[in-house]
Amino acid sequence: MCGIVGYLGEQNSPREVIINGLKKLEYRGYDSAGIAVIQNSGELKRVRAQGKLTELEKALEYEPIQEGHIGIGHTRWATHGVPSERNAHPHHAGKVSLVHNGIIENYLEIREQLLEAGVKIESDTDSELVAHLISREVEKTKSIFSAVKNVKPQLKGAYSILVLWEESPNELIAFKDGPPLVIGIGEGETYLASDVQALLNYTQKFIYINDQELVHVQFSKVQKQPSTANFTTETSKLSKEEQLYHVSKVTLYNQRFEKIEPKVATINWSADLIEKQGYAHYMLKEIYEQPRAVAQAAAPHIDLEKMEVQLDKVGFDINNLMDLEKLDSKKDFQSTLEVFKNIQKVYIIACGTSYYAGQVAKYFIEKNARINVETDIASEFRYRNPILSANELVVTISQSGETADTLAAIRLAKNLGAKTLSICNVKNSSIDREAHGHLYMNSGPEIGVASTKAFVSSLVILNLLSLALGKAKKVLNHDDEVIFLRAILGLPSQMEGILAYDKYFSEAAQKLKKFKGFLYLGRGVSFPIAMEGALKLKELAYMHAEGYAAGEMKHGPLALIDPQMAIVMLAPQDDVYEKTISNLEEARARGGKIISISTGENTQLQKVSEYYLSLPKAHWSVNPMLAVVPLQLMAYHLASALNHDVDQPRNLAKSVTVE
Ligand code: AGP
Repeated sequence: MCGIVGYLGEQNSPREVIINGLKKLEYRGYDSAGIAVIQNSGELKRVRAQGKLTELEKALEYEPIQEGHIGIGHTRWATHGVPSERNAHPHHAGKVSLVHNGIIENYLEIREQLLEAGVKIESDTDSELVAHLISREVEKTKSIFSAVKNVKPQLKGAYSILVLWEESPNELIAFKDGPPLVIGIGEGETYLASDVQALLNYTQKFIYINDQELVHVQFSKVQKQPSTANFTTETSKLSKEEQLYHVSKVTLYNQRFEKIEPKVATINWSADLIEKQGYAHYMLKEIYEQPRAVAQAAAPHIDLEKMEVQLDKVGFDINNLMDLEKLDSKKDFQSTLEVFKNIQKVYIIACGTSYYAGQVAKYFIEKNARINVETDIASEFRYRNPILSANELVVTISQSGETADTLAAIRLAKNLGAKTLSICNVKNSSIDREAHGHLYMNSGPEIGVASTKAFVSSLVILNLLSLALGKAKKVLNHDDEVIFLRAILGLPSQMEGILAYDKYFSEAAQKLKKFKGFLYLGRGVSFPIAMEGALKLKELAYMHAEGYAAGEMKHGPLALIDPQMAIVMLAPQDDVYEKTISNLEEARARGGKIISISTGENTQLQKVSEYYLSLPKAHWSVNPMLAVVPLQLMAYHLASALNHDVDQPRNLAKSVTVE
């Protein structure tokens, strides 16, 4: 997930607007960055640097960019091609410069097509290929707008793209499908960025671009005040020194390239809203932070060069034993590999949402490492006198790192001689300090009592853990490892695309709240997500909801079904899809109202569902992280529709530090 910024106008310096904007977007990706400006000399100048934005600022000291009135910039989270200057955006082809957030799914086909045409490709990225397509097209059309119009239908995948052309320094083109893009309306100038945070220092008037829309931004200077009265998005300002009106015009086109009237929103932010960054609740902000959160969870543990999982830095400090007599004085520190290769069984212990993450991980680990996994609720585990040994690994999952039952569980596990590994979001929390090995969700503070971003981040960490265990046990080959890693790297862009269900559920909530109960059903890795979805509804909307294995319907839950019961069916197109569909038919035949979630269009499911939510096509191992997002949004909007305190639901605390 990357950050993009663009500027067209002369009230400000493109270089300053872009660098300041990228600083606000650095959370979206920070392995390399770049900027390109068409200078007043007419020359298109680009500077890029690997590493954080400060590296780009240093590079700009050595290679200054002169003033101009149009520019684009980018901060990168690598998906195709390692972090390097060569792979950093903006990407150039001929006189075209482009920045891209997202993933072009048909990039291999485009790459072949360009190579066959003799095009010299410099980087390993999918984004550069789009620049070449546009550059070749603009040679024919001599219009950057027409060139982008002709190229856009060739692209498949998720993208937000800004394009400029050295031959036409008074126009900037933008288009998107999936990752966010906003246009900031200035006085005689226009801003573009991945989100409003990047632009709030310059304007509070924004147009939120919808999927498949195309934006044409034009700049001109005229002798007299243009009649901007009938244009919400054509603004002007008299520039004193030149006594000329600077005019900026934003034109929006839909998928059929028909002009559409943009809706300009004004963002009035109170201090509290700034804290929540414009979101009504911390929970909604944290749902929207999930693409970033999963990127931040994965970043420290994926070697992009070798496409390998890297947990070796984790290591196990077996000094950290409660019972020092058991300390193996010869080796007070064991590498992850040393510990993992001897593990014969894994226990995953947690509470609530974290426990459901552990249940998903059972599928990951048993599939990738072929090690027996037992999951348990911490409050059960700590009192059932479990049998543990030194070649068993007890993994605890805890966002807060302070949950009393989970803390008791890790202490018990250590006393019984097992190796312990903590997955926490809060470094140096009690559970983190107790464990031998430490992994972190790295999601940033999670304020809303209902856990969201920490949950999806823990799934990413658990997925990576399963790969590391599989490699240590020599049962996972590198080809399969790469498939899992690519799925994780593509997750931020795919998650951004489904955040659009926010609007969907804000409209559907009034109807959904009339149901007397909800039954969440799923199979395989979707079963724990069904449990998590039900928990979200319970803890936020205080409504009756149950999560069940879809295959269990005949063993009892079928008796619950009637028209007042909503059935939330998780049916991503994986290897248990067909079985799940037959369970859905059972529920529907008894009058249950169906809310189904599956992959892509899926007309079969749409026909039998009151509500159908589509997920992007993805590897089975990331379906849980994708499927949970609409469930979080559904629970959020039902709670809002019922006027509940979303961030502090009744009777609950963010961290249960007492039994
Ligand atoms: C989840 O939305 C709840 N806040 C709750 O179930 C939570 O997951 C549980 O209390 C465990 O908290 P922890 O992850 O901080 O240990």
